[in-house]
Amino acid sequence: MKKVLLIGSDGMLGGELKERLEKKYDVTGTTLATLDICDKQAVINKAKEVEPYFIINCAAYTNVDGCEVNYDLAEKVNGLALENIAEAANLVNATVIHISTDYVFAGDLDINKIYTEDMEPAPVSAYGKTKLLGEQNVSKAEKHYILRTAWLYGIRGKNFVKTMLKLSKERDEITVVSDQHGSPTSTTTLCEIIEQIMEKEPEYGIYHSTCEGFTTWYEFTKKIFEEANISTKVKPITSVEYKSMYPASSDRPTNSMLSKEKLNNIGIYPRKYEEALKEYLKEELK
Ligand SMILES: NC(=O)c1ccc[n+]([C@@H]2O[C@H](COP(=O)([O-])OP(=O)(O)OC[C@H]3O[C@@H](n4cnc5c(N)ncnc54)[C@H](OP(=O)(O)O)[C@@H]3O)[C@@H](O)[C@H]2O)c1
Repeated sequence: MKKVLLIGSDGMLGGELKERLEKKYDVTGTTLATLDICDKQAVINKAKEVEPYFIINCAAYTNVDGCEVNYDLAEKVNGLALENIAEAANLVNATVIHISTDYVFAGDLDINKIYTEDMEPAPVSAYGKTKLLGEQNVSKAEKHYILRTAWLYGIRGKNFVKTMLKLSKERDEITVVSDQHGSPTSTTTLCEIIEQIMEKEPEYGIYHSTCEGFTTWYEFTKKIFEEANISTKVKPITSVEYKSMYPASSDRPTNSMLSKEKLNNIGIYPRKYEEALKEYLKEELK
């Protein structure tokens, strides 16, 4: 059994991934309480102790608006700490799998186009900037995969789908942004992609890793309510209107659409977002 050091194993993605990987790998999970990735010596010591074949990093400072006000912490966790992980991986000859985000792009690409892995990142938010630094640092690992995901939701964490389900019980009408485009991605779909990357071990580098298909937050909310038989009205608003309602919120990309062609070319075909949502709701509404 190959050994895996799974960092951030109690997060939304990390928790589900741990449960799945334990069936096939010898997994050592770490949490913030047991391994702070900002502590370089601790990361190196853990890698030497476990001697993993794969180091998977699911840890991050994921509060997008929080990154704007706590930039130093975000930079340490999302950016600088990845140098620690890369150095530790090189010392024990491990392959790193790191999770990144669509927010590394400016999101202002023409809406008829989609982002490919070779396009120049240009983050506008603090979260995106710190995650880009993380990508640059983790690339110092000789063997590494960077999986950029987007609009992630899962059973274990606070997420957009749960928020909409909760709001539908409290309000007759919900306003949702209708001019941001992307691919809602279930943690289950991302776990499937990670597992296939681990099995196939394709060429190292960046892989856009979201569900298949594109939508807007507004259309996605309508889909959630349709699937869950909820009659609450959904009203579209623009990003500008949203920002005027919540001035402290971070700017979100208008175009978050990531091409999956590179994944498809190595034989990985992520689920369609509608199918992933259906499967998630079956579990969530049980
Ligand atoms: N959620 C999204 O919509 C989304 C979108 C695109 C990309 N991503 C990326 O996907 C990955 C997984 O996201 P997620 O939503 O599963 O995240 P999450 O639920 O917030 O989990 C992240 C975990 O990292 C831990 N952590 C924070 N600082 C740490 C440190 N210094 N050392 C060790 N652990 C630390 C957190 O612990 P505490 O909870 O105790 O702080 C938490 O358990 C992240 O890389 C994220 O950037 C997420």
